[in-house]
Amino acid sequence: MIKEYSHEPFTDFSIEKNYQEMEQALEHIKSYLGKKHSLLIDGKNVETDEEITSINPANKEEVVGYVSKASKEHAEDAMKAAHYAFESWRLWEAEARAELLFRAAAITRRRKKELTALLIKEGGKPWKEADADIAEGIDFMEYYGREMIRLKDGAPVKSRDGEKNKYIYTSMGVTVVIPPWNFAFAIMVGTTVAPIVTGNTVVLKPASNTPVIARAFIDILQEAGIPKGVVNFCPGSGSEVGDYLVDHPLTHLISFTGSREVGTRIYNRASQVREGQKWLKRSIIEMGGKDTVVVDKSADLEAAAEEIFISAFGFAGQKCSAGSRAVIHEDVYDSVVERVVKIAETKKVGDPVDGRTYMGPVIDQSSFDKITDYIEIGKEEGRLVYGGKSDDSKGFFIDPTIFADVDPKARIMQEEIFGPVLSFSKGKDFKELIEIANNTEYGLTGAVFSNNREHLEYAKGHFHVGNLYFNRNCTGAIVGYHPFGGFNMSGTDSKAGGPDYLPLHMLPKTISEML
Ligand code: SER
Repeated sequence: MIKEYSHEPFTDFSIEKNYQEMEQALEHIKSYLGKKHSLLIDGKNVETDEEITSINPANKEEVVGYVSKASKEHAEDAMKAAHYAFESWRLWEAEARAELLFRAAAITRRRKKELTALLIKEGGKPWKEADADIAEGIDFMEYYGREMIRLKDGAPVKSRDGEKNKYIYTSMGVTVVIPPWNFAFAIMVGTTVAPIVTGNTVVLKPASNTPVIARAFIDILQEAGIPKGVVNFCPGSGSEVGDYLVDHPLTHLISFTGSREVGTRIYNRASQVREGQKWLKRSIIEMGGKDTVVVDKSADLEAAAEEIFISAFGFAGQKCSAGSRAVIHEDVYDSVVERVVKIAETKKVGDPVDGRTYMGPVIDQSSFDKITDYIEIGKEEGRLVYGGKSDDSKGFFIDPTIFADVDPKARIMQEEIFGPVLSFSKGKDFKELIEIANNTEYGLTGAVFSNNREHLEYAKGHFHVGNLYFNRNCTGAIVGYHPFGGFNMSGTDSKAGGPDYLPLHMLPKTISEML
């Protein structure tokens, strides 16, 4: 009997024992930082001359690892291996595939602190965020395993006298998985194990900023007993290996999470039928957000300020769910801005290796440059009320930066910055607050703070986002509790961690037999 799913608890680092264990784990992983890691193709480790160097964004000098870099030839080998392995893997019992995920979850749980430490170093995540990222990866394995068992016999259909009808889900084929660096464990795990548990095989091209944690997960899958060829690990460049895999005629499904620029490019390429291709490719594309926290005049202002801060500056705003816009009723506007600035003054920014750090660096030089450019634009478009400073001498550090009095149509209110920059606008009534909130090309998350029931009901119908939260922050969706995905240019609204997710990885089949 499988225990009912409930999410993995977060680690409480205010408990001395947990704090110390985390410090020990950070010490322990030093012994393997800078190691070389190989590709995995058809169950074999493959080393290449060309490598990706993964660095610690808080300390550019520190190499987290050197990871082999796949060429088109490696990608071709991986495709062939995945295509071959599909024929036997798809016939494994649903329970057996699910059990493999449960074993991998158990191994991850045993190694949780070590993996958290690795993510602190490779992703620049503060302890709390890194711990939640690993927990979410465990959740995806536990949740999708159970979901596959729920779906194994298909869905009910009617049968007339003299016939027996069945409606079942079958596997699709080779899935190309291209996850992001910002949830370098959770989203990479979720988008890899969903196709695996549904009987597909995978070629995984991890994010080039975070390939070491991805390789650690591949090792876990191997330890759990995954057959050769079912998962293949191919780090490489997007324009070379990424395009090659997406375009390949044997690819049946593509699961991408990342920028809008790359997502729309993949969506476009996936629609083209290549020579030798026997099916229409399906793509699951999850992209960005320009998410808004709305504060009504009836709201608890202290709670709203606290949650605006978390929404905007958790993991330095590098979440597609980040609340980078705060839209406030004019009657309470000054008070909310002032409270958020006061909170910012109390938060520690620095190296996330220190357990007291609230906000660490941004991921790399190009992010740093892009975000600091936006801060300059912000100085023209709004009133800088906090932060604005940055320093990339050792790592990629940018202070939490807050602009007030920004026009809702200004660039910093419209474009995804993916960094620690928050903009405030005001509106005269609730309807206008929601209009401003909807005035973006995205539609991922949104939060409303209000104690007016009529306004909350209005928001349910009018605030056009995939994940709508009331009286809480707009980040931190939990697998199985807050299925996650967005509207409009945020993506295909696939709702990761929800009941409709696995069927996106399968082909429903009707079987009707005359009795
Ligand atoms: N699921 C994450 C969140 O809700 C973002 O990917 O913050």
